[in-house]
Amino acid sequence: RNSFETKAVKQNIQSVACLQPKVQASFKVAVLGAAGGIGQPLSLLVKMSPLVSDLHLYDIANVKGVAADLSHCNTPSEVLAFTGPEQLADALKGVDVVVIPAGVPRKPGMTRDDLFNINAGIVKTLVEAVADNCPDAFIHIISNPVNSTVPIAAEVLKQRGVYNPKKLFGVTTLDVVRANTFVAQKKNLKLIDVDVPVIGGHAGITILPLLSRTKPSVSFSNEEIEELTVRIQNAGTEVVEAKAGAGSATLSMAYAAARFVESSLRALDGDSDVYECSFVQSELTEVPFFASRIKLGKKGIEAFVNSDMQGLTDYESKGLEALKSELKASIEKGIAFANKQA
Ligand code: NAI
Repeated sequence: RNSFETKAVKQNIQSVACLQPKVQASFKVAVLGAAGGIGQPLSLLVKMSPLVSDLHLYDIANVKGVAADLSHCNTPSEVLAFTGPEQLADALKGVDVVVIPAGVPRKPGMTRDDLFNINAGIVKTLVEAVADNCPDAFIHIISNPVNSTVPIAAEVLKQRGVYNPKKLFGVTTLDVVRANTFVAQKKNLKLIDVDVPVIGGHAGITILPLLSRTKPSVSFSNEEIEELTVRIQNAGTEVVEAKAGAGSATLSMAYAAARFVESSLRALDGDSDVYECSFVQSELTEVPFFASRIKLGKKGIEAFVNSDMQGLTDYESKGLEALKSELKASIEKGIAFANKQA
């Protein structure tokens, strides 16, 4: 069970309701792209965390108002606004966790890869600043296409001599959140109990929910497996189409990203029982970056949950083989971009 829904939320509710946080706030978090559709609700959720002492909001525009607004919430963290490239270094100094939702979202008819040309450059520039100002921070990449932007970030960090693969994460938590929700609905389970690992990458068929690993243990018909898998893979498009040109998932994404931030902070705080799925440098398969369940600790990734990959069903094994070439191509595209520009 992921404790975001349990321990962290209870702590948040207690601290917001009683105005007396039970946990000592001590970590600094920066959100880059904080004035955007994801950035704003994400910043609000991070502002609720009792583990955060400083919340740095960075964007190229409109972030001053967001910070003024959030700063009136009587939770422990101090909120500061940073606008434009000249203030980026200050936004990052001393930060423990950097979250990057900067960039353009999809419109109907677009794939995540269609965003590459704009978002690749944005992520590259921002990660260069991270490398120069807080190379030791956990880096959470939300900007799509995650399958390419994470390898770009890795190359940039390598170029600056500060790459630590244990601390670079592509945020795929929304795939897990969606899988948990859809499975609970389909099988009439209590949502809080459901946990479905999702492996592979974060686009179309590269998103592979391991329904056979669902907790609590539950059986699915072949039709249910097909229907749920396809729905989880296309859930982002469901939202893009429903928003009809007004962007992609922002609120559920903010929720998912806040869960990943809270998990990272708990790990940094010494909690020894923190597991999340994330798209990271990996040796679980021959694909160099791969999403899987990882154990988080003070120094980043502590372990990979290898057991998830053993005893896959035929359906899952076929899905895994099918996703590898697309995932590899997206990774190579990111690496080529980062090195062409270097
Ligand atoms: P948005 O357009 O509402 O917000 C993006 C923000 O980034 C804006 O405030 C913009 O000013 C800012 N920005 C642009 N260039 C910047 C730069 N160089 N430095 C700092 N800030 C900059 O977009 P939204 O909906 O918040 O989505 C952001 C990204 O997240 C998109 O790439 C989207 O595809 C991705 N996304 C990822 C998901 C995931 O599961 N990993 C899920 C949903 C969206």
